[in-house]
Amino acid sequence: MKHRVSVSINGKTHEDEVEARLLLVHYLRDVVGLTGTHVGCDTSQCGACTVHVDGMAVKSCTMFAVQAQGREIKTIEGLAGSDGILHPIQQAFWDEHGLQCGYCTPGFIMAAAYLLEQNPRPTEDEIRKGLEGNLCRCTGYVNIVKAVQSAAATMSGSPKAAQPAGTPAGE
Ligand code: FES
Ligand code: FES
Repeated sequence: MKHRVSVSINGKTHEDEVEARLLLVHYLRDVVGLTGTHVGCDTSQCGACTVHVDGMAVKSCTMFAVQAQGREIKTIEGLAGSDGILHPIQQAFWDEHGLQCGYCTPGFIMAAAYLLEQNPRPTEDEIRKGLEGNLCRCTGYVNIVKAVQSAAATMSGSPKAAQPAGTPAGE
């Protein structure tokens, strides 16, 4: 049995018939075709699937598509401006080499966007805490933290954040 869902995704309404067991991440990728949201685990630990649901960062593998009924979703594809200009967090990941393979990057950027909405000038510790639900197997986290610091400085219009990124997350 299928259920009808109507969801706003990146400002556009999508209406689809979905099975009750379909996870939001699979709905976004396989039904809507937004493959920027990644699946990196089957244990809800990696954060590669992070999107915003009604403005909150959510791991989209932890919710069913039917639970998104009537909600507003933002994915990595909705972060850049309609003119194609990268969001400051995307630009900062580019500038600070905050990625290597890039698999974790959409999730980190969506988690960072939520973090900076809640706390526009986080300390290094607050950045590490805010991103602790996201895992990266490549970078060692240092440049990810630098990227978020740089984005925070750009978005708040102040000089580059002074906090040096030091130890890897989780230590
Ligand atoms: Fe969702 Fe890993 S795919 S947390
Ligand atoms: Fe490869 Fe993070 S850049 S997993």
